[in-house]
Amino acid sequence: MKLVLASKNEKKLIEMREILSHLGVEVCLPSDVGVDMDVEETGTTFEENSRLKAQAVMEASGLPAIADDSGLCVDALGGAPGVYSARYGGPGLDDVSRYRLLLENLKGQPRGAKFVSVITCCFPNGDVLTARGECPGTIAFAPMGKGGFGYDPVFFLPKLKKTFAQLTPEEKNAISHRGEALRAFRKELERYMREKSEEFL
Ligand code: IMP
Repeated sequence: MKLVLASKNEKKLIEMREILSHLGVEVCLPSDVGVDMDVEETGTTFEENSRLKAQAVMEASGLPAIADDSGLCVDALGGAPGVYSARYGGPGLDDVSRYRLLLENLKGQPRGAKFVSVITCCFPNGDVLTARGECPGTIAFAPMGKGGFGYDPVFFLPKLKKTFAQLTPEEKNAISHRGEALRAFRKELERYMREKSEEFL
C-alpha cells in the first residue's frame, strides 16, 4: 500500500518510513505523486488540523494520506500554545525567541506541561484512522542542551533530569509524544490492514 505523507518535512518522512516499513507500506511525499499544496491549519484541536491536512492530500492525490499535528500544552497557560505552538508570539520569531517568550510568560507560574501529537490517516473510501501520543514534563527555568528543535531545550523530564534537547534522537523517540503516536498508529494500521486483507493483498 502507498501512503502519501501530508508534509514537506523530509525528517518526518524518514521517521514514518522507519516505523511503517515492516508492514509493507510505502510512504511518499505529495511531490512524488504530483501534488503541491499548502493546507491552512484552521482547526482548534490537533485532531482537526491533522485531519484537515490528511483529507486535503487524500482528495488531491486519490491515495490514502497521513498527517500529524503536534504542539506543546502548558498547564499555567490553559493549554497554550497548543495548536499554535509553531506560531507562538506571532510571525517573525524563531525557535529560540519563542521559547524565551514562553519562559518570560511563565515567570512565577507552575511549570507543568505536555507535548501532544495526533496522527490521522484518511482513505479514499472514507475510512479514517487516528492515533494520539502524549509526553508529560515540565518547563525548565533556563534552556539546556543542543539537540532536537522547537521547544526541546526548555522541555524538562523530571525522571531523567534532562530536557528533550539533551537526549539522543533514539532516546527522545522512545518516550516522545510523536514516538508514542507513531507506535499507536502502526498498531491501528496493522489492525486495519488485517481487517481489509483482501483489499491489500
Ligand atoms: P507541527 O506539528 O509540525 O505543525 O509542529 C508544531 C510545533 O510544535 C513545532 O513547530 C514546534 O514548535 C512544536 N513541537 C512539536 N513537536 C515538538 C518536539 O518534539 N520538540 C519541540 N517542539 C515541538
